[in-house]
Amino acid sequence: MKTIENFLKYNKEWAAQISKDNPEYFENLAKGQMPDLLWIGCSDSRVPAEIITGAQPGEMFIHRNIANQVIATDFNCQSVLQYAVNVLKVKHIVVCGHYGCGGVNAALNKQSTDLVITNKWLIHIKNTYRLHQEKIDSFQTKEERIDRLIEFNVIEQVHALSHTSIIQKAWDTQNGPEIHGWVYGIDDGLINGLITIKPGDAIEPIYEYEPKG
Ligand code: CO
Repeated sequence: MKTIENFLKYNKEWAAQISKDNPEYFENLAKGQMPDLLWIGCSDSRVPAEIITGAQPGEMFIHRNIANQVIATDFNCQSVLQYAVNVLKVKHIVVCGHYGCGGVNAALNKQSTDLVITNKWLIHIKNTYRLHQEKIDSFQTKEERIDRLIEFNVIEQVHALSHTSIIQKAWDTQNGPEIHGWVYGIDDGLINGLITIKPGDAIEPIYEYEPKG
């Protein structure tokens, strides 16, 4: 196992190597950021957004939480979203879940007595399960049922983004961003695209903001 010293040592060598190869690299990065993409992913250590997509520093604005959720009352995710859309004007938002997600798996089990806070976070995934229970339960094995809920969870978060005033206003005034739902395979390294929604696409009427005036 790596120690903290290992990580710091690597960092020194990394910074030295980059500065040697490209003396203006850090100076240029320090001028500011204008990434095109907001990534909303799972905190899982096996799904590093930049590594699996080849994104370089400056290319991706990132928010990660357990089971890649977009919750309307989560000021952390919502403020990341607002900044990414209103200030950075990202062209794409990706919600990326992953097969083998421990958070989604946990949501299909009983609530843990010891993890009272985490339970509250996972309750939304239990709700998504109930919403699609018939379809999910039609699969024979538990693994298949978990995989389907992982996919439904991603799709649900894509829709949750479209239910925000931030996205609806941006779709009206900025003609973007497009919102994509992906699932990453930890066992093969591949991304599976599930859904893309974009300006002009229908939003369930009860989630639409009333026109002003
Ligand atoms: Co996960």
